Amino acid sequence: MSHFLGLGMTHYPLLAGTDEHMAGLLRWTLGDPDIPDAEKDPGNWPASMRQDWSDDGGTAAASRHRADLVTQLATVRQALDDFAPDLVVVWGDDQYENFREEVVPPFCVLAYGDIEVHPFALMNERGSPNAWSLPEDMTITLHGDAAESRQLADALIADGFDMAYSYQKREGAHFPHAILNTQLFLDYPAAGAEMTYPIVPITVNCYGQHAIARRGGLARFAEIEDESLDPSGPTPKRCFELGAGVARAYRESGKRVALIASSSWSHAFLHDKGWHLRPDTEADQVLYDALVKGDFDAWVSVTSKEVVDAGQHEMLNWFCLLGAVQELGLELTWSTFVTTDVFNSNKCFAIYQEVSA
Ligand SMILES: [Fe+2]
Repeated sequence: MSHFLGLGMTHYPLLAGTDEHMAGLLRWTLGDPDIPDAEKDPGNWPASMRQDWSDDGGTAAASRHRADLVTQLATVRQALDDFAPDLVVVWGDDQYENFREEVVPPFCVLAYGDIEVHPFALMNERGSPNAWSLPEDMTITLHGDAAESRQLADALIADGFDMAYSYQKREGAHFPHAILNTQLFLDYPAAGAEMTYPIVPITVNCYGQHAIARRGGLARFAEIEDESLDPSGPTPKRCFELGAGVARAYRESGKRVALIASSSWSHAFLHDKGWHLRPDTEADQVLYDALVKGDFDAWVSVTSKEVVDAGQHEMLNWFCLLGAVQELGLELTWSTFVTTDVFNSNKCFAIYQEVSA
């Protein structure tokens, strides 16, 4: 008999950097000359945002945000350890990593096996030392299972999903950070070096119409004005269906399968209507309330346009998870929602377990 655990978590890249750099995205945004000065003036910000930004550019608040996130991540990790998975399926966005101009599939199973990756490459590029004071160029082994990944792609194709797969990461690009940071952050005390559960990654074209247009998401308003949008990513409904397909693929496997949605929710840098300054917390709260209530209909009825307008692109990973959760009848046993205006994105954490008889 198969057993399942569902988990949701953040892979917020700035958590791998130091406190001084954690508000770096907001700092960068404040340098955009096309954002009205009144919007950039802290005097006009919500009180909590002003307090976090303070007179140190968010450094003291970063230490509190880190402590909060690390605590929630430890709760998620404990659930994973208690469950003792045979394998861990992770849905994560590809942020101009493997998905580039040559080809952008809606979803892709990464069938790599164990692979050496540079966990701090992104932070090095952003000029931030890593949070662990470890050598900049160190590597960790990201654990995978190529055979399991191939089998999953095959099962999904048989079930009607025309699944792409990859046997080799793209040369000259970072390893998809959503997958890498899942191991890094679930194993935060050891900087990802000690967690050995095999990961079966499914990367999702969360960035959709901005996948190539914004090459990973960050853009000045002057660039946005005349950007040529790419075709949309998969719809929230299709992501939901894929999640259910993954659940079906493992239902008769006899394995213990953990399913993880890896991403923060609304991202300030993708929230055009909010001048890239703050995430769309109102839109996030609506979905969080629906998640707590187990209102799957509310989730399935969300449109791609609503997702993009709210800067919730990466939440497509969570739509995949919720599709699996509904298919399997898992129960939400714990969740928490961490909001912030200064550290780019709101972060949700969730644990779904089998209903005890
Ligand atoms: Fe991401």
